[in-house]
Amino acid sequence: MARVNPLTESLAVYPIVQLNQIRDRVLASGEPLFDFSMGDPPDPTPPFIRQALLDAVPEISQYPTVTGTAPVRAAFCSYIKRRFNVDLHPERHVLPSSGSKEVVFHLPMMVLDPKAPDRGVIYSDPCYPVYERGTRFAGGQPHAVPLHGDFRFRPWELPRDVLKNARLMFINTPHNPTSAVSSLEDLRRTWETCREHDILLVSDDTYADMYDDEPPPNIFDVSTEGVLSIHSLSKRSAMTGFRSGFIAGDEAWIQRLRLFRPNPGLASQSFINEAARVAWLDDAHVRERRSRFKERRALIMDFFQEVGIEAVQSGATIYIWFKAPQPFDDLSYHQHLLKEGILATPGRMLATTEAGNGYLRLALVPDIEGCAKAIEAWRRLL
Ligand SMILES: Cc1ncc(COP(=O)(O)O)c(C=O)c1O
Repeated sequence: MARVNPLTESLAVYPIVQLNQIRDRVLASGEPLFDFSMGDPPDPTPPFIRQALLDAVPEISQYPTVTGTAPVRAAFCSYIKRRFNVDLHPERHVLPSSGSKEVVFHLPMMVLDPKAPDRGVIYSDPCYPVYERGTRFAGGQPHAVPLHGDFRFRPWELPRDVLKNARLMFINTPHNPTSAVSSLEDLRRTWETCREHDILLVSDDTYADMYDDEPPPNIFDVSTEGVLSIHSLSKRSAMTGFRSGFIAGDEAWIQRLRLFRPNPGLASQSFINEAARVAWLDDAHVRERRSRFKERRALIMDFFQEVGIEAVQSGATIYIWFKAPQPFDDLSYHQHLLKEGILATPGRMLATTEAGNGYLRLALVPDIEGCAKAIEAWRRLL
């Protein structure tokens, strides 16, 4: 038997892989499938973005750099100014990334000393699974804080010894999977807590632009000091396959990232950066995209209200987090919905504590006709 890092086996089955296996079984049976499992809607990437990519493929291809191109860095700063009214410097405060997942995964490796007692990483649970995975592979100590009730994260309530031993905290608002949104006051208290305990505050802003009506508060409304914010084009611009995002914030941390990121070769390609540049400079396609998710969410929320299914009402992200109706729990309701080909993610697949139990996540992936048909199918189960 080959000797390997045991983490590669213990963390091997990523939840998405499990859901894909279920989806493939339903598809193979020939029965209808309403796939609300993965946050990867098959919506077209706007044509002007695709064209920018094609036009940028060079005749001679050479290694890209970790800092990317000056025009793409200027586009990141332009977006940050338009969206949060914060002035960032393209040479000092931003770096491109290959989507947000790789940043989340690699950051603990850069920040933590795996031999030090204070190697804790704090995040809320349920959550995007990579906070834990990145922490473990970096030799850190994950501290998942279970969320209940309104599913808002209140890290200032944590015991002092937990905060004292932490070097890194991830926040994610609007939140996957619950769609919960932190208030400005929540964010201010979170930031103060991190400053007091010298914890790097990382805001996973993958869903910053995914809201129905009003833009939700963001950590940059409080400060950029001691903060890194991770942005992504995946959900904002229907570009999951491009693997493109950026990191913005505290100059000293961006400088450390410039030193760290060449080691694993985390440099996004010049043609991807060019597509990213035009995407970050445009807001019209994002408005249009938001309206589609709003329509899908409204249809399903109306149905839930009619039949008495409880859900978090934030009007943000591309998800709906709802409570399994009596007498079901999340696993048995997941199975029940599958009888009509509706694939929802059981909450416990998205959590490492008990906080996901009894809840399920719908990713608003099917188009509006697909959502309407899924509701018809759901009615047959009631
Ligand atoms: C909270 C959160 N962070 C990060 C990611 C990764 O996104 P990206 O496609 O930018 O890597 C996702 C993807 O679903 C997510 O939900």
